[in-house]
Amino acid sequence: MRTLWWEDGQLKMIDQRLLPLRHEIVSFDDYRAVAKAITDMVVRGAPAIGAAGAYGLALAARQSTARTREGLLADLAAAKRVLDAARPTAVNLTWATRRLFNLAQRLTDAEPDALRAALLAEAERLANEDVEINRRMGAHGAAVIPHGANILHHCNTGSLATVDYGTALGVVRAAWERGNPVHVWVDETRPRLQGARLTAWELMQDGIPMTLIADNAAGHLMRSGKVDVVLFGADRVAANGDVANKIGTYKLAVLAKENGIPCYAVVPTSTVDLSLPSGDHIPIEERPWEEVTHIDGVQIAPDDVRVYNPAFDVTPHRYLTGIITEEGICYPPFEISLRRAKEAAEARIRDA
Ligand code: MRU
Repeated sequence: MRTLWWEDGQLKMIDQRLLPLRHEIVSFDDYRAVAKAITDMVVRGAPAIGAAGAYGLALAARQSTARTREGLLADLAAAKRVLDAARPTAVNLTWATRRLFNLAQRLTDAEPDALRAALLAEAERLANEDVEINRRMGAHGAAVIPHGANILHHCNTGSLATVDYGTALGVVRAAWERGNPVHVWVDETRPRLQGARLTAWELMQDGIPMTLIADNAAGHLMRSGKVDVVLFGADRVAANGDVANKIGTYKLAVLAKENGIPCYAVVPTSTVDLSLPSGDHIPIEERPWEEVTHIDGVQIAPDDVRVYNPAFDVTPHRYLTGIITEEGICYPPFEISLRRAKEAAEARIRDA
């Protein structure tokens, strides 16, 4: 299932706010609308946001009326600022828009129309690469999943969080496809319930055994010996291996270590931000209070209650067994293994 794709001169996306009750496709021909869709979480999940940003910049090039290369580059720079501001934590967004913008800067001989075509082709390439990268992560990760494991999973990291297949859920899929009869404990993931709404839906569609749990049940399950491995994705990984992911991840990782359970983050190298020395420097998005006080428009807290709604937390690297990337599994010291993975990925893209 493709989460977003280019069709008839438009960017199409599944509207993830409506799942699992309604499956609707929305179309975009304006990059500003793409930026708003990212903010409003029509599309969400770090790699999917990155691909949406890339298509958004390709759309901005088509929207620009500039007749010179310099004019088009100026319009692209302005559009990039709008897209990059849509969500702050997932580094895949700026990674993707930078990749397209850098390409536009490198093509010094290209006329505006040739640049427009090149940017769309690059967005398509980036989206297709994402699927291939997820499958590679899946293959690496499947090797460390014990036979018949009970896997605890947080948020949604599946096809919907990427272009297709998934990061942590891609590892689950790969294990299942290789004949490993795994079972997944699906954290509901308050406040937006990506686990209950999206992960449960994806796993049920694939027929992969799963059980939905309230977030607060995870510690009890771990202490009762009912969890063999904890898997999640990430929105940004600092150079030292600290990982920012959906709020609640930190709690799971600490509990996993306390209970002697292996715990892996599954990330494409585009999520690794070597410019940040540690997780303390990762910007943490705060989201609207209604996400906490309301569920599907139904108010569940008193009028005028004070709310704090951080969308992500940082898990210090000491709680991670490893970080699974498309270049293999990174183990401590992460400063070295992550840098090597990032360099290997960049070399592969250069040589392709
Ligand atoms: O707020 P969301 O739904 O965009 O958060 C998504 C996550 O936290 C995922 O775990 C993360 O993007 C990595 S998985 C692709």
